[in-house]
Amino acid sequence: MTRTYQVTIVTEDNEAIAFACRSDEDVISAAVRQDIYLMSSCREGGCATCKGYCSDGDYVLGKVSAQALPSQEEEDGMVLLCRCYPTTDIEVEVPYVYERISFSPEGLTFEAEVIELTQISINVVKLQLRRTGDDKTIKFDSGQYFDLAIPGTETTRSYSPANISNHQGDLEFLIRIVDGGKFSEYLKKEAKVGQTLKVKGPSGIFGLKENGFTPRYFVAGGTGLAPVLSMVRHMKEWDEPQKCVIYFGVNTEAEIFHLNELDQLAAEMPTLEVRNCVWNCSDDWHYEKGSVVDILRRDLQGLGFKPDLYLCGPPGMVEATYAVCAAVGIPKEKIYLEKFLPSSH
Ligand code: FES
Repeated sequence: MTRTYQVTIVTEDNEAIAFACRSDEDVISAAVRQDIYLMSSCREGGCATCKGYCSDGDYVLGKVSAQALPSQEEEDGMVLLCRCYPTTDIEVEVPYVYERISFSPEGLTFEAEVIELTQISINVVKLQLRRTGDDKTIKFDSGQYFDLAIPGTETTRSYSPANISNHQGDLEFLIRIVDGGKFSEYLKKEAKVGQTLKVKGPSGIFGLKENGFTPRYFVAGGTGLAPVLSMVRHMKEWDEPQKCVIYFGVNTEAEIFHLNELDQLAAEMPTLEVRNCVWNCSDDWHYEKGSVVDILRRDLQGLGFKPDLYLCGPPGMVEATYAVCAAVGIPKEKIYLEKFLPSSH
């Protein structure tokens, strides 16, 4: 017999929203049915966007990716709301503010035209979009992401813009080309300037945290540079005074991109230092030689203060970097991370 329970979502700013959830539906679906759009993306337990902490009540969890919800977190009461089926009334704390909850699907989707498509390294394409229509507002927090739909299909992929909120309608994406990836194939074979894409967002909770004047160290693997650039560009726009360092790592010189953009940003921002790290490089490479993890370890050892760390990139790089931070005594509350989890197809 189907039962109905009450779900109460408590946001980071201590606001609450309550709604009904049937025992045969997950919390995200129940919320959508009632025009409440909580943070979510894949809705199949794979991305961790809908993660929260269940502070009261019981539930069963459907199938989740171990990367999105490691077993230790599951034991500690963390849940993925798109896979959470209440068996009593429940209360869940989510790590974002009430303003991030939307109450209409239209508020989350719009169309944008391709205005630039450029290969900027051996495996990265820059995709520049501009919102169509009269309302050109693009509002998001640096570090968040948007879902882009391949024209004529329901297939979407999530990417973080490298630029910041603006009123010109611009979104700059740096997209890694993956062999056989659906969005990659679309970019290689079908995408062209003038085409229109459906965009949904923003989503995600990765972003700058207010922590006084603590220096910020950003570590980006490959296209993990996009949200990092957005956050640093935001700091420049708002004249934020914290010292910041970008560690940008790739495997080979052919994979590096945006060197000019980074040089220019550092020239315009006296508070910024950039370390471009190539693991497998030639003798001619005149930036940092070695993996981003090793270069970061070198710099953190013996540092007289503990910076905030923002880690973004492939899971292996993020996990190795996290381990380095832990080994030098950086508390986990000062480490913010975003892993690029592989899509299921
Ligand atoms: S939306 Fe729940 S894990 Fe992706």
